[in-house]
Amino acid sequence: MDKIRIRGGRSLRGKIPISGAKNAALPLMAASLLSDETLVLRNLPHLADIATMTHLLAQHGVEVSMAGEHPGGGHMGHVLKLRAGAISSTEAPYDIVRKMRASVLVLGPLLARCGQARVSLPGGCAIGTRPVDMHIRGLEALGAEIELDDGYIIAKAPHGLQGGVVVFPRISVGATENLLMAACLAKGEVVLENAAREPEVGDLANCLNRMGARIEGIGGDTLRIQGVDRLGAADYAVLPDRIEAATYAIAAAITGGEVELIGAQPETMEAVLAALSQANVNVQRTECGIRIGGTDAGERNGGVIGIDVTTAPYPGFPTDLQAQMMALMAVADGAAMITETIFENRFQHVPELMRMGADIAVKGATAMVRGSGGPGGSGLHGAPVMATDLRASVSLVLAGLASAGETMINRVYHLDRGYERLEEKLSACGADIVRLTE
Ligand code: EPZ
Repeated sequence: MDKIRIRGGRSLRGKIPISGAKNAALPLMAASLLSDETLVLRNLPHLADIATMTHLLAQHGVEVSMAGEHPGGGHMGHVLKLRAGAISSTEAPYDIVRKMRASVLVLGPLLARCGQARVSLPGGCAIGTRPVDMHIRGLEALGAEIELDDGYIIAKAPHGLQGGVVVFPRISVGATENLLMAACLAKGEVVLENAAREPEVGDLANCLNRMGARIEGIGGDTLRIQGVDRLGAADYAVLPDRIEAATYAIAAAITGGEVELIGAQPETMEAVLAALSQANVNVQRTECGIRIGGTDAGERNGGVIGIDVTTAPYPGFPTDLQAQMMALMAVADGAAMITETIFENRFQHVPELMRMGADIAVKGATAMVRGSGGPGGSGLHGAPVMATDLRASVSLVLAGLASAGETMINRVYHLDRGYERLEEKLSACGADIVRLTE
C-alpha cells in the first residue's frame, strides 16, 4: 500500500488549482440514469470515487466515455459523456456499494426511470453508521413499495412515482439528492421540506433543470418539483470543490505561507473563510479565487489564534472540514473547542494528531484543543500515523506540513478518494511531500 512521507516546517508559497467537486460529481453522474440522452459533465476531478461510480453506472448499462482533458488542463478537470440509452440492470451490487457509500444515489434515479431497483445497503464507515432510512421513507412517501432483504433495498414503483410532500426529520445531503432525482419523473408535484442547501445539491438541481426538469427553490430548504415525462440531454460543468479549496487554505495557514486558490468560489465557503479570519488568518478575494496568508494592508500581528468551531449543515461550518480545522487549532496560540454535530464518530484523527504532539481532550461530541503555537510553544513533531477516513487522512497531511521532522502516513488510499494530485499540488508550493509506492 502507498505511503506519503512529509518533511515539515516549510511555508507554502504559490498557486493551487482547485478541482471539480467530488460531492457534486457523484450525484451528477447518477443523474445520467434519468435520461436516454447524453449527459456531458465537465471539470470532473480524477478521483478513485469517480472511477467507482463510472464502474457502477456501466454495469447498469450506461455508456460512459472520457471525452478527453479540458483544453484548460490543470484545474479544468476531465470531461465524461454518459448515456443511459437502455438500463440493462437495476441492481447495484454489494461489492461495489461497499466501496463507496454514494452508490446509494442510483436508487432514486433507477426507481424513477425503471419502476424498480435493488440496491445494496451501503453499510457504515469509519465516521458513523450512515443509515439511509430517510432515503427510504422519502421514496415511500412518493408511492414506492420498499422492503429490506438480504442486505439489499428492494424498491418497486410499477406505476411510477406519485407527487407528494416529503419532510426530512433532519437535514441529509444524500436523501435530498436521491429524492430530488426521483421527483423529476414523478406524476405530479413533489415538495421536499427541510432539504439540504449544500452547493452540491444546487449544482445537481441546476443540471437536472438543464436536462428538462422543473425544480424551483434551488438553494433554499424547500424544493418544489413538477414531475415531467422524460429528461433530455445536457452539458454541465461541475462546481469547484469548496472542501478541497478550504483544505488547502488551511495548509497555507498552518505553514504560515501564502497561497492563491485558483478557481475557488468564496461564496460557497463563507463560514470557513469567516472562521479563518477570526483565527487571524489573512483571507483576500482575488480575480482568480482566494488568497490565503501573507499580510494585508492592516498588518496582522502574530500567528493563528485558537477559536471555537461547531459543525452544521450548510451554510454552517462543514463537517468535512472539522478534522482539518483541528490540525490548525493544534498549532494555534490558545485553546479551541471543536464540536461535531453531524456524525457520531468523526474524531478518528484525534489519537493520530496526539501522536504528533497535539494536546486534545475529547468529551462526547466536543474536542478541547490546546494549541502549541503560543510563545515558547513546542509545536508538533513528525511521526508515523495511520489514516482512517478521507478527511482524517488529510488532517494528518496538514499536521505533517507544520511539524518538525518526518511524518509517514499509511493507508493513503483514503486520500485518493477525495484529493486529486494532492502531493503534486502541495509540492508545487514548496512542500517536501512524496508518495512512496511499496
Ligand atoms: C454527504 O454524505 C457527503 N458525501 C459527506 O462527505 C458529508 O460529510 C455529508 O454529506 C454531510 O455534509 C457525499 O456527498 C458523497 P447526510 P451523506 O445524509 O449524504 C444522518 C466526504 O468526506 N442520516 O447529509 O451520506 C447521517 O448518518 C463525505 O466527502 C440519517 O440518519 O450525509 C448523518 O449523521 C463524508 N438517515 C447526517 O444524517 C439518512 O437516511 C447527515 O448525513 C441519511 C442520513
